Amino acid sequence: MSEQSVSTAKQDKSEPSAGNNIAVTVHKTAIKLHVEDLHVTYRGRRGEDVEAVRAVSFDIIDKPGVGEIVVFLGPSGCGKSTILKAVAGLLPPTKGRVLIGDHEVNGPGRDRGMVFQQYTSFSWLTVVENVEYGLRLHGVGASERRARAMEILKHVGLDQFASKYPKELSGGMKQRVAIARTLINKPKLLLMDEPFGALDPQTRWEMQGMLIDISHREDNTILFVTHDVAEAVYLADTVYVLSRRPAQILHRIDVPTFADRTHKVKASPEFRQCEEQLLSLLYAK
Ligand SMILES: Nc1ncnc2c1ncn2[C@@H]1O[C@H](COP(=O)(O)OP(=O)(O)O)[C@@H](O)[C@H]1O
Ligand SMILES: [Mg+2]
Repeated sequence: MSEQSVSTAKQDKSEPSAGNNIAVTVHKTAIKLHVEDLHVTYRGRRGEDVEAVRAVSFDIIDKPGVGEIVVFLGPSGCGKSTILKAVAGLLPPTKGRVLIGDHEVNGPGRDRGMVFQQYTSFSWLTVVENVEYGLRLHGVGASERRARAMEILKHVGLDQFASKYPKELSGGMKQRVAIARTLINKPKLLLMDEPFGALDPQTRWEMQGMLIDISHREDNTILFVTHDVAEAVYLADTVYVLSRRPAQILHRIDVPTFADRTHKVKASPEFRQCEEQLLSLLYAK
């Protein structure tokens, strides 16, 4: 399942050719995440069925060396968190399946890191102890895990706060800790469920900028869920537009890369046009 031949047989001049044959290299494309006909139905309080996700299928291709942000955009209550939980292995599909590479997901794993809207640090550990916690669990030695934690803290702009406790931090900083805690495990997929939803607009913009930097630095894919159209346009390489509940994929949109990734881009005509397009798809009857 993970390897799919694609028809881009390409001449590779570096390979010796045998006789008159032209040496060709068939580039194989590995699929990082394969979601196939995913359905999730909950049992409601009165025993009724609550259908949250219907027939959702998509693939994320592994692009080695390229960080990518894929956004699921949909109205509140449509089933976004449910899709992410199924990918995280926190929830079994009612029907359909989720594969990471060749392996069917049937529980959480270190190849997938999850960041929620609520902060998830341990209050009794310092910032750096929180970040190195995952490595400690896996028996990485004290000096190595400290060095790796400090490096990641630098990437999220928190190296000066390593010895603070979470309660001494602002909401944005707590969320940086949560992201750093996840990044230290080097997950192939970073699953983010409206992680900036509780932050004030300015902090939110800063966090979005930081996430783009991270996606350029790390060789992983970020699956990001939001109901905020501007956030989707700003962050995404690809947006999947979801219907109201039960969540179904309505459209897949490739978002242009804006030359200017500062917050000023949000006032530009190209950005506004993309926002308009997504809004009209999202609220089309
Ligand atoms: N554990 C649950 N039991 C019953 N219904 C649930 C449960 N979790 C979510 N739901 C319902 O499923 C629907 C989709 O929820 P969710 O995936 O959290 O939506 P979103 O993240 O898009 O806001 C909502 O109607 C919600 O009330
Ligand atoms: Mg949600």
